[in-house]
Amino acid sequence: MEEKKDTAQTGAGAAPEEKHGGKFMAGRRAFLGACAGGSGARGAGLGGVPLLASFTPVQRGKPEPAVMNLGDIPEGGFAKGVYGGHSFIVFNKKTGIECLSLICTHLGCTVKWEPAKKIFKCPCHDGWYDEHGINKGGPPPAPLEHLEYKIAGDKLIVGGA
Ligand code: FES
Repeated sequence: MEEKKDTAQTGAGAAPEEKHGGKFMAGRRAFLGACAGGSGARGAGLGGVPLLASFTPVQRGKPEPAVMNLGDIPEGGFAKGVYGGHSFIVFNKKTGIECLSLICTHLGCTVKWEPAKKIFKCPCHDGWYDEHGINKGGPPPAPLEHLEYKIAGDKLIVGGA
């Protein structure tokens, strides 16, 4: 009797290497095996450390505070700084310090302070804010963020207060 070869065989009896070319399937099998091993028993061992490290969430706490010399902010004037990678502005007013983020609340562009008009203008979509950061026109849905600050001696510490 002639033995019949089933070339369309699938499942446990199949030899995928024979059907699809040994090199590719063997490589894929090895790769899947390595992944399964990494997440299984070997996941707790050294083999899984690089993989686990890649899943470690990035620390997203408060950024380091920005420190400015109070003497660098003229009375009645302003100075700019960077906190958490974003620009801010500090006004030294008769009524006290006012510290505002320069990040537009619409889509996050950096707004520009226009001292002559006493407004913040966003170049992206023509949003604008008054001198206190209150949204007055265009698409911004909310005022500019007031940043926390504290004064320590002759230093102004923005953020992390
Ligand atoms: S990002 Fe400022 S108005 Fe759109």
